[in-house]
Amino acid sequence: MKKRNIKIIWSNNNETFVSEGDDWFSAAEKAGLEIPSGCLTGSCGACEIDVNGNTVRACVSDIKSNKKSLLKVSLTSDPFWEN
Ligand code: FES
Repeated sequence: MKKRNIKIIWSNNNETFVSEGDDWFSAAEKAGLEIPSGCLTGSCGACEIDVNGNTVRACVSDIKSNKKSLLKVSLTSDPFWEN
């Protein structure tokens, strides 16, 4: 069993613990958030999130730890994808 030793603080102030290599969509769902998606191949940018100040495309990235094992995540929004 993988050790859930990475703490994520989400934009809704929920905190979850995940393992290195977990996927962003499931992690966000556990925090009560939904990451938008589009192509799921890394080309459209709909799933971009901000992780400790760096933009990450959630559909082509796994969760990676840093030295502190603490990630602060916010969802970016693109007016193109909003209703
Ligand atoms: S869903 Fe299109 S880049 Fe992730």
